Amino acid sequence: PQPGLFRATLRAAPVSLAVLQDGTPTEFWAYNNSLPGPLIEVMEGDTVEIEFINALSQPSTIHWHGLPVPPEQDGNPQDAVPAGGRRVYRFKLPLNCAGTYWYHPHPHGFTAEQVYRGLAGLFIVRTKNDPLKSIPERHLVCSDLKLGADGRIAANDMNDEMNGREGQFALVNAQRQPVLTFDAGGRERWRIWNANSARYLRLSLPGARFTLVGTDGGLLGKPVTGLTELQMTAAERIEVIVEAPAGGGVVGLVTEPVERGKMGEVSPEHPITLLNVDFSAVKPERLAALPKLPGSLRRIQPLGAAKAKKRVVFSEEMSMAGGVHSMKFLVNGQNFDMQRVDFTSRIHEVELWEIVNQSDMDHPFHIHGTQFQVLERELDGQVTPEPLLAWRDMVNTRSGEIVRVKLVQRHKGLRMFHCHILEHENAGMMGQVQVI
Ligand code: C2O
Ligand code: CU
Ligand code: CU
Repeated sequence: PQPGLFRATLRAAPVSLAVLQDGTPTEFWAYNNSLPGPLIEVMEGDTVEIEFINALSQPSTIHWHGLPVPPEQDGNPQDAVPAGGRRVYRFKLPLNCAGTYWYHPHPHGFTAEQVYRGLAGLFIVRTKNDPLKSIPERHLVCSDLKLGADGRIAANDMNDEMNGREGQFALVNAQRQPVLTFDAGGRERWRIWNANSARYLRLSLPGARFTLVGTDGGLLGKPVTGLTELQMTAAERIEVIVEAPAGGGVVGLVTEPVERGKMGEVSPEHPITLLNVDFSAVKPERLAALPKLPGSLRRIQPLGAAKAKKRVVFSEEMSMAGGVHSMKFLVNGQNFDMQRVDFTSRIHEVELWEIVNQSDMDHPFHIHGTQFQVLERELDGQVTPEPLLAWRDMVNTRSGEIVRVKLVQRHKGLRMFHCHILEHENAGMMGQVQVI
């Protein structure tokens, strides 16, 4: 193999796999028959060449969520690969983009279904200067599965379309409540993907200590220690250092329900055990002797003064057609239109984006092609500066909130921005920015 060149083929096709404990198989759609899709692991500066084979009966694309790839290689809805078709995606990754990414389909009108049927895979970009390299690493991909009475993956119902789909089975690495054996050294580095269509996560692991070290776009400047809970919006990724509880034993990683303003009749929600961690191999004396984590992880430069401003308003509208209620999810009062460009941005120019949530529920904002820095949040006139300087491509916006972020686009072409509750994105809560 050529140094610096990563090549692979990803084939999207139906496959029957058993993920529930009772061994009954379920018909999924998957990349290379694997759930989640194969891990693509490359170095900063590498060139990536992926042959995509679409063996589905629908058009599809592969979108490289969070990565700075040129728009024509980013699996935009405009560039759908027809059923039975193929194409090659090729891009060179810049330096300083090490982080935790993922890939998933993005064909307009089919994204939500293709993802909930299983099409999503992992993408990690590494750097030579990773200060946490020596810590054993583990990958946790959270997704969910909604089966109908017939045991097959169910289509979305009205409630899913409104609030986003949340399946009755919460999976980690496509398994239901797996048991992990924690490293005997007492410390692990976890990369966690929230690959759910809509479910937010609020993770806790009683007795264990969490140190947040990374967000979507890679390591933080400094670790954030002493966390007992980790919140993740749909599509978000984090990196955490986990230290074993002093008492050892088997402990459940639990996600608590997150209040996100769901509409209609919502059944009561309960904590869900995602997996169990077996700490019994960890010796207490190892725990006491753990070396200190580095105090600084990398340098993050705050983006400079903004030269332009964009305002994105998320809203919803109830509509009645033929006696049936349905919900419209809008960006600046409009539904997504592939023919319409909503904004123009200049390449390499710092912009301030203001995301205004005028709806009754939370919406996680995402933009393609770049990472952003969250500056502040405003709720009822109260401005709260963002405490963390971090690179992200996901940020939650609460009902009534204004979130301000700074970003720069480094390629010319068309980029999407949208709510990452995939049912909302599918329903048109998405816009396009032309970078010139
Ligand atoms: Cu996860 Cu438009 O993307
Ligand atoms: Cu994306
Ligand atoms: Cu939304």
